[in-house]
Amino acid sequence: MTQTSVPRITTLPTNRHPDRPFDPPPELAAIRERHPLVRMTYPDGHDGWLATGYDACRAVLADRRFSSRYELMHLPLAVDGAPAELPPAALGDLTGIDAPEHTRLRRPLVGYFTVRRMQALTERVEEIAAAHLDAMVRGGSQADLVPAFAKPVPALVICELLGVPYADRDTFQRHVFTIMGGRSTAEQVGAAMGALHEYLLGLVRAKRARPAEDVLSSLTETDLDDDELAGVGAFLLAAGLDTTANMIALGTFALLCDPHQLEVLRSDPGVVEPAVEELLRYLTVGHTGVRAALEDVELEGQVIRAGESVTLAMGAGNRDPRRWSDPDVLDLRRGAPGHLALGHGIHQCLGQQLARVEMRVAFPALLSRFPGLRLDCAPADVPTRPDANIYGVHALPVAW
Ligand code: HEM
Repeated sequence: MTQTSVPRITTLPTNRHPDRPFDPPPELAAIRERHPLVRMTYPDGHDGWLATGYDACRAVLADRRFSSRYELMHLPLAVDGAPAELPPAALGDLTGIDAPEHTRLRRPLVGYFTVRRMQALTERVEEIAAAHLDAMVRGGSQADLVPAFAKPVPALVICELLGVPYADRDTFQRHVFTIMGGRSTAEQVGAAMGALHEYLLGLVRAKRARPAEDVLSSLTETDLDDDELAGVGAFLLAAGLDTTANMIALGTFALLCDPHQLEVLRSDPGVVEPAVEELLRYLTVGHTGVRAALEDVELEGQVIRAGESVTLAMGAGNRDPRRWSDPDVLDLRRGAPGHLALGHGIHQCLGQQLARVEMRVAFPALLSRFPGLRLDCAPADVPTRPDANIYGVHALPVAW
């Protein structure tokens, strides 16, 4: 296909099929079928690109000629009140900066999120999960899984790990939801980010004065200054709260809609690890990314010019039939190596080992505690969050 005949679309599809809440918007599959990299007109008039193919998304994520700097990007969706140009990333926001600044901020953190360190948390995550399941049992025979289990378990874990008082959660969770929920104006997001930063700054100063056994205290011994630490702390907190919570809730929803796969997971403890990877692929809660070309780059037979934005439909990439057989089927045994749900390249999820430990504990603990767990409403009545940066459900009524 020549550069001139590449397909063009004018709007990023966002509507999911009401009967298939776990699938990306169906138009994305139709676009991918035509070409894995198409031209897209952005809401601000920018003439950019949309990648829907697995190889195209992965290639962009791996290529340093594509920048993550927000101020260079055009947004694929109109956001109320958003300025014409995005401001640079807030201090500590690793996803909006490039090397070498990104390397400088990420390097001191890596050692605190290794496989070994995170696996050492398994027992504590099991205790936290069990305590919340006990509370569900005490509460009767039905619950909303989101506030009862999916949200508090990762929240308590990330708070303990960082050394953020869990008792303050109502405040910081509200700020995080304003930032990540996808329904706030740029002004509201800015205010919430400022408030979260101030909160973390207070904590960092207190930890510098009186260090405790937690990651924020340990980080005060690195070269990062208080403002950078507050920024990184706020970012880690936000990243650790919403993502895993939505994976646990949406993953449970998907399993309850698929009795055969549910049985596979219940009956074979050996399937837990591949199951978590497959759920990550199948659900891809972080469904969309954006990068901006720093120079001309040839990709999929096209030339992306310097300055052009590329939107990455990672949910579509993770369902690409050129990469996966029966991509729209949830198959817990497949393991889905190489999926893009945790990103790829220098920005690949820093908290991925923590997220894995949490999910490997949460799903089996929930299913073994409640052998008769079922959805307590019609699947179509589960309120999904199609507008949010992180896809998931607002609530998940369950009974047992
Ligand atoms: C299942 C849960 C999770 C999912 C699906 C997820 C997904 C992602 C994705 C897709 C990225 C890449 C963003 C990009 O390339 O722009 C990312 C980055 C990141 N994630 Fe996660 N994440 C999860 C859990 C966590 C947790 C628990 C933490 C807490 C520590 C965390 C911390 C981060 C950080 C700090 C980055 C930025 C890394 C960088 O830019 O260098 N994530 N995550």
